[in-house]
Amino acid sequence: MSEIIIVKDEQEAGAIYGHSVANLIKTKPNAVLGLATGSSPLAAYQALAGIVHDEGIDMSQVQGFALDEYIGLPLSHPESYHSTIFRTVVEPLGLDPAKVHVPGDALDGASLEDGAKVAGAGAAYDAAIEAAGGIDVQILGIGTDGHVGFNEPGSSLASGTRVKTLAEQTRADNARFFDNDVNQVPTHCITQGIGTIMKARHLVLLAFGAGKAEAIAETVEGGISAFCPASALQLHPHATIIIDEEAASRL
Ligand code: GLP
Repeated sequence: MSEIIIVKDEQEAGAIYGHSVANLIKTKPNAVLGLATGSSPLAAYQALAGIVHDEGIDMSQVQGFALDEYIGLPLSHPESYHSTIFRTVVEPLGLDPAKVHVPGDALDGASLEDGAKVAGAGAAYDAAIEAAGGIDVQILGIGTDGHVGFNEPGSSLASGTRVKTLAEQTRADNARFFDNDVNQVPTHCITQGIGTIMKARHLVLLAFGAGKAEAIAETVEGGISAFCPASALQLHPHATIIIDEEAASRL
């Protein structure tokens, strides 16, 4: 873990991310951004969008790779991560949609029974990240159980992109996006592995609120263990954790 920054609120955290990524894009116009869904990164995307707009930064060559996707939802579903990333990142930042990738893009609603299609998607996604030159900055949220992407407790810390089963806790946490009905939340996902995430040159993990305090304490001060997948960040040479006082309250 390189640094922990405690901020007043999501806007202050977002500004740190926004300025850092804007500076990167000014020096590397074809920068590769690792993108995440969830509420935690929203203020960061908004801050970056504001700077891009104010300074007229050319975003046309920027590339993006999202962390994860549900299995079984059509890409057009409003809660697919494909739709979410386009709504919250691609449109506000003015990215070229052809340069932004989400792990389920090749699946488009395919079910787990569509074995061959689903099986090849993970390795193909990792190969596409490599071919793009690797991820420069990966933004991360964290689940209340310490998951990053959809790498639930028990995930191999060396894993590549692959299909996983969602933990019941995560399905319950995410039911708010599906009419508060956990039965509508998909049971499986495809996610960048912890090994994939660790290859990014800079990791920025954002967490806010008391609900994340335990996961943050495990991540920062617990042992490095598959039972808290985010704890792998302790081994990363350039990981920045930006949290508010509440998320820091168990440190
Ligand atoms: C989902 C996503 C994660 C995200 C987590 C936390 O499970 N797959 O990438 O970090 O939710 O979401 P939030 O930031 O809304 O708390």
